[in-house]
Amino acid sequence: MRRDVVIIGAGPAGLLLAHLLKAEGIDCVVLERQTGPYVLSRIRAGVLEQVTVGLMERLGLDARMKAEGLPHDGFNLADGERLIRIDIKALTGKQVMVYGQTELTRDLMEAAAPRGVEVIYEAANVALHEVAGDAPYVTYTKDGAEQRVEARFVIGCDGFHGPSRKAVPASVARSFERVYPFGWLGILADVPPCNHELIYANHDRGFALASQRSNTRSRYYIDVPVTAKVEDWSDERIWDELSVRLGPEAAAHITRGPSIEKSIAPLRSFVFEPMRYGSLLLCGDSAHIVPPTGAKGLNLAASDVHYAAEALTAFFKKNDNDRVAAYSETALARVWKAERFSWSLTKLMHRFPEDGEFERRIQMAELDYIASSEAAQRSIAENYVGLPL
Ligand code: FAD
Ligand code: DHB
Repeated sequence: MRRDVVIIGAGPAGLLLAHLLKAEGIDCVVLERQTGPYVLSRIRAGVLEQVTVGLMERLGLDARMKAEGLPHDGFNLADGERLIRIDIKALTGKQVMVYGQTELTRDLMEAAAPRGVEVIYEAANVALHEVAGDAPYVTYTKDGAEQRVEARFVIGCDGFHGPSRKAVPASVARSFERVYPFGWLGILADVPPCNHELIYANHDRGFALASQRSNTRSRYYIDVPVTAKVEDWSDERIWDELSVRLGPEAAAHITRGPSIEKSIAPLRSFVFEPMRYGSLLLCGDSAHIVPPTGAKGLNLAASDVHYAAEALTAFFKKNDNDRVAAYSETALARVWKAERFSWSLTKLMHRFPEDGEFERRIQMAELDYIASSEAAQRSIAENYVGLPL
């Protein structure tokens, strides 16, 4: 078959891009290795920036998000005892939307067939060919038969482990990486959240995050050593740890309940350059990873997709190649700022094994400074709601 664009990966980046291109009348197909239900079973992001919400609005796919999502005016940092509220609405005029990645992906997935967005699930052995030139093609296996799609562009939306990034020759590529010595153990439970806004806590015993999916569903995280195993963490042990790390005020309002999902995610900062090579554009986790502190991963995927959709629309509708040519530079400028913010919030809120009492006092001094300085709070708020496109 032949399409204008082949998108690899039907996570949020791939599905969002396919809808945006389809809305412009650009012919595309999405190839996904997994089944739809498997993609939806991965519990991940929970906080959407205005940029991400805006893309769903533009597509007219925001009805359920508007009805069920929770707009938040602020969030909290905790230093063991007190809550330091960052009033993002007052400081930036903007809000964030608490709406799970699962729900956003479901909205995109369910609207695909009615809108003629073609997604091929269970596409095995996806391989990219000839991406250096202007006649790339992708091969895959479906139901045991070898298939081939020719296209003008291939867009890698296949996450950190997908094949797209590897199609860029090592001679032109550079990557930048920081691996952290801990992971986040997440628990999802059908209990009311302990606080109406999120709390990121830095306690002597380690990091904790109180988040939510709705007024009856909570999402919590604690940091654990990279070597930790989920089996070693009973629900009770996690609730006990959260009750200490989140501080007395939040602990008093924690409702315990059985976990409906429990998993450990490693923390990593990673940037791959360039984000375009010939006819291949990379979007989202295929090109970069941020540690989850700061809630930037999905939102960066959405801003990449915005730039890619603009570039491809200019190419196909106006015969203008400039935006495609500038895609990597444009996207990376925003990516690096989000990398910086996620890294700095991770450094501020976690205890690193190599750190001693000096670094601990520096963290406490920084949190105390943030508590007393509107300028410091504004800087955090501006980054948390998302920098402009
Ligand atoms: P993915 O979601 O990884 O999707 C890639 C898709 O490509 C997958 O469906 C995969 O199956 C498919 N694929 C892979 N290989 C192949 C192949 N060979 N062939 C075909 N298809 C393939 N971000 C935020 O913005 N806010 C948050 O609050 C937040 N919290 C997080 C919490 C956790 C615990 C984790 C793990 C992540 C969090 N993130 C958060 C990050 C966010 O989930 C990711 O950045 C986001 O999923 C990136 O989307 P993507 O579409 O680029 O990649
Ligand atoms: C969630 C995840 C994050 O990484 C974050 O910073 C905030 C919330 C969540 O899953 O709810």
